[in-house]
Amino acid sequence: MRIRKAVIPAAGFGTRFLPATKAMPKEMLPIIDKPAIQFIVEEAVKSGIDDILIITGRGKFEIEDYFDRAFEVEEVLRRKGKLDMLKKLEEIDNLADIHYLRQKDMLGLGHAILKAKSFVGDEPFVVLLGDDLVKASVPCTKDLIHHAEKLGSSVIAVEEIPMEKVHSYGVVDAEEVSNGLFKIKDLVEKPSVEEAPSNLAILGRYVLMPEVFEYLENTKPGRNSEIQLTDALRAMNKEHDIYAKKINGKWLTVGNKVEYFKTLLEFARDDPELLKVLKELGL
Ligand code: G1P
Repeated sequence: MRIRKAVIPAAGFGTRFLPATKAMPKEMLPIIDKPAIQFIVEEAVKSGIDDILIITGRGKFEIEDYFDRAFEVEEVLRRKGKLDMLKKLEEIDNLADIHYLRQKDMLGLGHAILKAKSFVGDEPFVVLLGDDLVKASVPCTKDLIHHAEKLGSSVIAVEEIPMEKVHSYGVVDAEEVSNGLFKIKDLVEKPSVEEAPSNLAILGRYVLMPEVFEYLENTKPGRNSEIQLTDALRAMNKEHDIYAKKINGKWLTVGNKVEYFKTLLEFARDDPELLKVLKELGL
C-alpha cells in the first residue's frame, strides 16, 4: 500500500477572519512571506504525496494562480538578474501535480471530502486542513502515513489541548496501544466540556481508507448543520479500526487572529533578521 494522493479542502469562507478574507482566500494569508497553503502543500510533498486535489469555491482563484507559472513576474526577475527569487518562484510552480475542484454548496468538511471521491478512487489518501500547521522535524503527514501503512488502517493526528478548548475541535475517546498511538473507541465533533470524552483533539491531518466515502454518503448534517467528517469517522469506527497518533511537533493554527498572531511570532523567531527585530522590541 503506497499512499500518494492528498485532498486539501479550501472552500470555506474564512468568516473567523473577516474582513481580511472578504476578497482573499484565508488559505493565502501570509506566514511572514509565504501563504499558509504553501506550507500545507510542501508538507504533503515532503511526505511522499505527488498528486494533490484542492477543493476550492467561489473567490478562491488566487490559490490556482499561486501554484501556476507567473510568466510576467518571472520574466522581470530574469531580466533584473534576481535569480534567487526566480528560483523560489519556479520551485512553487513545480511543487506537485495539483488539481482543483469547486465545491458549489458549502455543506461542511465531510461534504467537501466526499467531492474528492472520484479523484481518490479506491486508494487510501491523506486529508490536510489549511488552518493547521505542524512544525516538526518529521512531517506530521509522513508520520501518519508510516503508521497507516503498518496498520493497514486509517490514522488521524491528535494533540492534547486544555479542556476549555474542546468545543472548537473534534475529540476522540481512545486507548493508548503504544507510545503516542491510540486505538479510537469513539469520536465527537465539537463537544461541550461535559460531553468531551478526553482532551485529545483532532487536528487537521488524516490518513483515510477509501471506505470513508460510503460513510460520508450516509452522514446527515450534524454540528452547525454541516456534514461533519468526524461523524462519518464515528460511524466507520464501528466497523473498521481507526487509530489516532499524537503529533511529534508543535501544532500552530491560522484559524483565528489570536492563533494566527502566535503563529507569526513562532515563525519570526526562526528567521534571524526578524528575531533581531523581536529582541529590539523586547518581545
Ligand atoms: C475541523 C474538524 C474538527 C477538527 C478541526 C481541526 O473543524 O471538523 O474535527 O478538530 O478541523 O482544525 P473546523 O476547524 O473546520 O471547524
